[in-house]
Amino acid sequence: MTNDSVPMVIAEPLTLPCGATIKNRFYKSAMNEALAGRDCAPTEAHARLYRTWAQGGAGVLVTGNVMVDHTQLGEPGNVAVEDERDLAMLRRWAEAGTENGAHCWMQINHPGRQSPITINPHPFAPSGGAVDGEYGRFFAEPTELTREQIHDIIRRFANAARIAKKAGFTGVEIHAAHGYLINQFLSPLDNRRTDEYGGSLENRARFLFDVFDAVREAVGPKFPIAVKLNSSDVPIAIKINEQNGAPGGFSKEESIWVMKRLEARGVDLIDISGGTYSKPVIQTNDGAAEDLRRGVYFTDFARRIKGELTVPVALTGGFRNADDMDQALSEGITQMIGIARPLALVPDLPNRVIRDGWRGNVDLPRISIGIKSLDKAFGGILVISWFELQMNRIARGRRPDSRIGGMRALLFAIRQHGPAALTPRRRKGHQ
Ligand SMILES: Cc1cc2nc3c(=O)[nH]c(=O)nc-3n(C[C@H](O)[C@H](O)[C@H](O)COP(=O)(O)O)c2cc1C
Repeated sequence: MTNDSVPMVIAEPLTLPCGATIKNRFYKSAMNEALAGRDCAPTEAHARLYRTWAQGGAGVLVTGNVMVDHTQLGEPGNVAVEDERDLAMLRRWAEAGTENGAHCWMQINHPGRQSPITINPHPFAPSGGAVDGEYGRFFAEPTELTREQIHDIIRRFANAARIAKKAGFTGVEIHAAHGYLINQFLSPLDNRRTDEYGGSLENRARFLFDVFDAVREAVGPKFPIAVKLNSSDVPIAIKINEQNGAPGGFSKEESIWVMKRLEARGVDLIDISGGTYSKPVIQTNDGAAEDLRRGVYFTDFARRIKGELTVPVALTGGFRNADDMDQALSEGITQMIGIARPLALVPDLPNRVIRDGWRGNVDLPRISIGIKSLDKAFGGILVISWFELQMNRIARGRRPDSRIGGMRALLFAIRQHGPAALTPRRRKGHQ
């Protein structure tokens, strides 16, 4: 159905540098589904969830982060892919996620030190040393990676991407944001190595570039590869600088340099995100109030790189209505609209906007246990558990329900994951 009020740009197809075409500009951003079965295997629930999203009309569905090592998980319920043992189920997942002309891209990740102690007593990182601050006790002290181990992880990324392609996923996204391993290599605060993987920006970015090149080699030139990258980590650096004079952090300028280098290497899309000490991606449990205050995230950064990059960008965070989406696209600050939480509440939002001309706003509810101190104590866990519960409902053929309270979400998470549900999944400042 055509409708005069349909925002035209969002309905337009986009051709990526590798030649693949995406039917519209809706980019469903990664959300860990927490639906893995035994041994981190994908399940029929993944297929059902992604079928619903694919039928909902988005151009690209990025999966929740899939780990490249079963022993190194970022959060409970992660899928891990390190060999072909789950190929049959991966095929069912990819088939469902590519229904209705959708692309389905597997996000691949390694948590590095950001792996909670309840699920991983032996994390690895670019450099050793405990995590400071209140969250320190939730993460075991990591062991510094040897060069052999670094090379092994690079091979794991490439192997996971190869298996994703073999299973029928139509692209991959390398997770280089939110404080996980690749982000740790980029940050001079986490990366204090003195070999070719540490020190100068060129050296700190080497791990990402090696991963990218190995993945490209594994999937060939015509397969979409996206990279999710922080616009900067600078507030962390400033804080540490003030305290102990550590070198400056992964700044906006550095991020732009990395993006340009990725562009030259043949990346197909850059997913701009953030997640810093003072500004985590998801800052409070009151989504609507936060949206009102922040609007669309990272727009200043996206404006700044406009004209500097030719590779398509997906700006993720804070898009809640068609007007904002169309404005960002028309302004040329992004080529895809990255959306996560609203699609766990309204899985067919793309159809509603493009086909039905819907111009409403998706209001994220305030998620509360009803006791202020508990809301504060469980903040991030509460939000993540609540959205996991909504995805779980969709995967069971039920409708999302925004009236569900925080306590129910917390109990659901404990039932699913045991006590591990109650430990923070990300270090403070990273969402
Ligand atoms: C439950 C949940 C799980 C998430 N898991 C991931 C993930 O696996 N990988 C990732 O890059 N981002 C993850 N994110 C962050 C989202 O992709 C997105 O950047 C963030 O929610 C902001 O977008 P939004 O305002 O549209 O929700 C997650 C967010 C939520 C709420």
